[in-house]
Amino acid sequence: MIRNVVGSDLSEIVDIENLSFSVPWPRFIFKSHLGSPGFVLYEQDGVIKGYVIVDIIDSRVHLGSIAVHPKYLRCGIGTKLLDWCIDFGKMYGASTITLEVREKNRNVQMFYLKLDFQRCYQKQYCAAI
Ligand SMILES: CC(C)(COP(=O)(O)OP(=O)(O)OC[C@H]1O[C@@H](n2cnc3c(N)ncnc32)[C@H](O)[C@@H]1OP(=O)(O)O)[C@@H](O)C(=O)NCCC(=O)NCCS
Repeated sequence: MIRNVVGSDLSEIVDIENLSFSVPWPRFIFKSHLGSPGFVLYEQDGVIKGYVIVDIIDSRVHLGSIAVHPKYLRCGIGTKLLDWCIDFGKMYGASTITLEVREKNRNVQMFYLKLDFQRCYQKQYCAAI
């Protein structure tokens, strides 16, 4: 299930972050997003397997960060989280979703392209929702 992140989830979220990025966001950034409706996690059998942070800015969904625990990659969890972001955006009347991917991060680019995103500008990818 996908649900909002609460304070007691933070350690597991930070673990996923540290395992997923060479320059991970520090804990205080996640803490500052607590209570935001766009900060959600994917949980299965009591295990937190991934998270996403999105904001709505000028009728756009902006995806700030998404990560799936390395043990559970390629199981469809990233797709479920992204679908949630799209539904979230529609609920707030957004018409596009945007995000940034590092130029060298080809695997992640493949993920977004598979999900019908297009490269719009340099590192930025977007899709109509
Ligand atoms: C990007 C990320 C969230 C995708 O999560 P995921 O749960 O593994 O993605 P899914 O299982 O839903 O993948 C859906 C499709 O995307 C494509 N895809 C996903 N990961 C891929 C990879 N490493 N290489 C090539 N294609 C990939 C595939 O087409 C896949 O479908 P398939 O498995 O049936 O072939 C995950 O790779 C991740 O956490 N990466 C590290 C953190 C990161 O870089 N986040 C993005 C910052 S912008």
